[in-house]
Formats: sequence, structure tokens, C-alpha cells
Amino acid sequence: MSTVAFPQGFRLELLQRSHPRGGFDCEQDQVNDWLRTKALQHQDKRLSVTKALLDPHGEIAGFYTLATGQVDFGDLPTELAKQLPRRALPVAVLAWLGVSRVHQRQKLGDLLLAQALRDCYEAGRTFAFVAVILDCVNDRAKSFYERWDFAELPGNPYRLFLSAKSLAAMMGQL
Ligand SMILES: CC(C)(COP(=O)(O)OP(=O)(O)OC[C@H]1O[C@@H](n2cnc3c(N)ncnc32)[C@H](O)[C@@H]1OP(=O)(O)O)[C@@H](O)C(=O)NCCC(=O)NCCS
Repeated sequence: MSTVAFPQGFRLELLQRSHPRGGFDCEQDQVNDWLRTKALQHQDKRLSVTKALLDPHGEIAGFYTLATGQVDFGDLPTELAKQLPRRALPVAVLAWLGVSRVHQRQKLGDLLLAQALRDCYEAGRTFAFVAVILDCVNDRAKSFYERWDFAELPGNPYRLFLSAKSLAAMMGQL
């Protein structure tokens, strides 16, 4: 499985108890709180998987959390829903993503998103889903994701989706 090239000295690992989560600060309280207090518990319960990007000092420079979910047929835009059955449909969920304040604006967010989407794509070869969805915490996060072809779900301006077909095209597999 191919992986994104992170800067030299940085390494991506499955979140572990030994990672220094308590000091993580990406300037968004909800996102900090998720990593500091909940991500590991949810991983232990097999509800989500979190990957931490460690900097050369072993500090957490960034992370992302992936999970599975469902959306109702009626929540999808017509062009995506028209060939799908009228029921709850499987999706991959990019639940959280954050980059530490000291490492922001160095492209780590883009690299983490690229790796998260690659993970989704690889998983989708075994467990199918119709789209990747995510919820944005604010307008700044929304514009960050929109640069990557995520689009709004109808009637829900802060819930974005990327169809599985667009994901495959992005991975150069269509
Ligand atoms: C959103 C976030 C992940 C971006 O991480 P980052 O490593 O700083 O982003 P990158 O360096 O990869 O930037 C990529 C692009 O995103 C946009 N961007 C990133 N930070 C931005 C900011 N503060 N203001 C405006 N645009 C911004 C820019 O277009 C940027 O490209 P540029 O540097 O060429 O202008 C980071 O700011 C963060 O952790 N924010 C708090 C948590 C959050 O909102 N998470 C997302 C929802 S769960």
C-alpha cells in the first residue's frame, strides 16, 4: 500500500497510549479535546481509528480519525443518489483532522488529508462505501476541504462529501 511522503523525520503511527496527547493544540477546542480525551478510547472500542503524525521530537504534529457510517439515500445529492437503492448507505467518515499550532501552514494538513483519503480508498477495495463524508468545525476548515473537491450535502452546509468515484479518480484509479 502506497503512502504519502511526510517531511524527513516525521512518522505516521496508529495512535498509542505512549503518544503525548495531552499537550496537543490545534487552536480548536473540540478537536483538541477529541485527541486528548476520546480518540484512544474510541479506538480501543473499535469505533474509529486515529493516526498520529509525530514530529522529529516525538510530539504530535497532527492527526486524523476515520470511522464508518451511514447516510440516508435522501441526504445525498441527486446526481450521486440516482443509481443507488433507497435506503441507508455506507460511507467512510473523516471524523477529525488537526495540525498542531506550531506546525500549521507547512502543508502537513494537506499531507494528512491525502493520507486519510488514501486509507479510505484502500479500505474501500475491501469494504465498499458510496462517499467519504466529514463535518466542518468552521468556515476556515470548510475552505480547506473544498480545495480538495469536497462538496456540500444538500441542506447541510457544514457536512461535505466526496463520492467514491471522485476518490478513485483522485487516486488515479479510474
Ligand atoms: C485546517 C488545518 C487542518 C489546516 O492544516 P495546515 O497544516 O495548516 O494546512 P496546510 O499547511 O496544509 O494548508 C493547506 C491550505 O489550507 C488553507 N489554509 C490552511 N490554514 C489556513 C488559514 N489559517 N487560513 C486560511 N487558509 C488556510 C490554505 O489554502 C493552505 O494553502 P496555502 O498555505 O498554500 O495558502 C489546521 O489549520 C487545523 O488543524 N485547524 C484546526 C482544526 C480543524 O479545523 N480541523 C478540521 C476540522 S476537524
